[in-house]
Amino acid sequence: MQTADIYRRFASFEARGESLCYEEWAEGVASDADLLTLIDELPVWKRQPNLVFAAARYAGVSAQPFDEFRTELVAAWPEVTELILTKRTQTNEPGRCAVLLPLLSELPQPFALLEVGASAGLCLYPDKFSYQYGDLPRLDPARGPGTTVLSCAIEGPVPVPATLPEVVWRAGIDLNPLDVSQSEDMRWLETLVWPEQDSRRQRLTAAIDIARTDPPQLVSGDLNETIETLASQAPSDATLVVFHSAVLAYLSADARAQFVATAKSLRGHWISNEGLPLAPIVSPTVLPPPPDPTKALFVLAKDGKAVAYAGPHGQSLLWFG
Ligand SMILES: C[S@@+](CC[C@H](N)C(=O)[O-])C[C@H]1O[C@@H](n2cnc3c(N)ncnc32)[C@H](O)[C@@H]1O
Repeated sequence: MQTADIYRRFASFEARGESLCYEEWAEGVASDADLLTLIDELPVWKRQPNLVFAAARYAGVSAQPFDEFRTELVAAWPEVTELILTKRTQTNEPGRCAVLLPLLSELPQPFALLEVGASAGLCLYPDKFSYQYGDLPRLDPARGPGTTVLSCAIEGPVPVPATLPEVVWRAGIDLNPLDVSQSEDMRWLETLVWPEQDSRRQRLTAAIDIARTDPPQLVSGDLNETIETLASQAPSDATLVVFHSAVLAYLSADARAQFVATAKSLRGHWISNEGLPLAPIVSPTVLPPPPDPTKALFVLAKDGKAVAYAGPHGQSLLWFG
């Protein structure tokens, strides 16, 4: 796909309805031959709108109309390029715990959670948030209300639990683990949240605070090379759950196939939450038509069987009947 098409598609498919600023920026870039030339000088895997726009904002370009953005971006391009080349899109969305939780409720406790592609590991704390599923009674951690409520609209027979799970071990793998104790790492995570999404930023801040009180064990490395060793360290008297969200898109076809084979061979269970186009890699299940084909959707699967459509940030669950 040409870079202009990538930006156009991002504007209409991902940013529309989520961030007017990013929608305008992406549409503007898609029609700007000079900016496209600059972006095309980057390695192919570094040209994504999410990374370019986050790097621009990290370098000080503020959320503003496209013309002003363009002027500042061009002036800051050397610094922005440096950031693009050294950083990755590692958006860590703790809201995805709301998608993980119903599947955990069907498995024996306590849990040993192992997340591949964990970023800062903020999805490793499904037991620490409060949850609001549709208009069901709110679910709070055993030790009183959580500081942050994850809201998730539900449709279909979602197995919402009555209580939160017990997690006795949490570990993750990432090519570049982000450290909740490092302010630069956390500033990058905050910048990866789109400009208007204040509630996502607040949720992120709360999740960082939670993780700081009990930091996860994060291993640096490729998930295929490290998963078996890390899984072998999980306590044997807990149910091992290997999970991932928004990760498979970063792997080659061979690496995805290798990972799927490993995930199936490990003890315990495997939960996948990935973009709709990647669903066939994880699950042979024939999916019902998506409710709105113009909106990005994730597919949630357990042990290779698709069970639900999920909002990309954990904001909704449509359970298959
Ligand atoms: C978009 S983030 C998602 C983070 C987290 N799973 C979530 O849902 O909030 C994708 C993460 O996968 C990591 N990643 C990509 N390829 C990887 C690989 N081969 N091995 C380990 N981690 C990888 C990236 O570094 C990044 O932190």
